[in-house]
Amino acid sequence: MKTIIITGAGSGMGEATAKLLSENPENSLILIGRSQSRLNDVLECLSNRENHASLAVDICNARALRLGLADLLKHKSLECVFANAGIGGENAYGEDDRWHEIIQTNLTGTYNTIMEALPYLKLSQERFKHILITSSCLARFGVPNYTAYCTAKTGLLGLTRSLAVQYASDGILVNALTPGWVRTEMAERGIQLLADRAGISFEESFKQQMGYVPTGNISEPSEIGELVSFLFSGKQNSITGQALDINNGSYMQ
Ligand SMILES: NC(=O)c1ccc[n+]([C@@H]2O[C@H](COP(=O)([O-])OP(=O)(O)OC[C@H]3O[C@@H](n4cnc5c(N)ncnc54)[C@H](OP(=O)(O)O)[C@@H]3O)[C@@H](O)[C@H]2O)c1
Repeated sequence: MKTIIITGAGSGMGEATAKLLSENPENSLILIGRSQSRLNDVLECLSNRENHASLAVDICNARALRLGLADLLKHKSLECVFANAGIGGENAYGEDDRWHEIIQTNLTGTYNTIMEALPYLKLSQERFKHILITSSCLARFGVPNYTAYCTAKTGLLGLTRSLAVQYASDGILVNALTPGWVRTEMAERGIQLLADRAGISFEESFKQQMGYVPTGNISEPSEIGELVSFLFSGKQNSITGQALDINNGSYMQ
């Protein structure tokens, strides 16, 4: 049995990935998010339902994560972590600045998740263990009014590289995904925000954003899930310390 943590599993990319990974009866998933009811809804849709569990916790709270994982894993090993939870949106310097909230969730929360998972990854007898961090193509280029988000997502690439070197000899492979637009609630809110700023409709704003993307496509959450499934499958174990761009050509190295 392969035990896999997925944070942000109550919606979007995390939910789609959970559904795909659950199709393998050898996978046991731990779904993490803040809303227990959303996690329950996802759990009900999973294949091999009896293999999976959920943990309603805020990833900013390292102690709650530690206690929750101790309770669920009870000294059992862990093979993979998809550290995917995050929040989006703008921030602006001043009284209502969301800087701390975004950095705390997207950067420190991801760090907490990985640090609390590491003791269990080290218990695994598998030759290779996998950590995958959801960064963003906004680690690749700047967007106005997204200073906190761009900073956090770029910081995650430093975290990826540092952890990849630190834990390579333990057989722990650490990579990041840097997706462009993916059709989720977060993308919907982002496109609506741009529409409101420009005084145009959601549909017009969506069309405008797709106009900046070479293929003109938005990714489906299941495409992210397929990539995660492959990286966790063990079919290759030579990628580590990398940021993998899945962005319809919006950034090319
Ligand atoms: N959609 C895109 O276009 C896009 C592009 C690039 C990168 N990303 C990144 O992809 C990841 C997944 O986002 P998504 O697009 O799938 O959006 P989403 O549907 O909004 O998913 C984000 C998930 O993170 C969870 N979450 C947020 N804060 C949390 C916290 N403090 N503790 C625990 N869970 C928390 C949310 O659940 P609760 O509210 O229940 O906690 C939610 O299920 C994010 O890191 C995002 O930055 C998205």
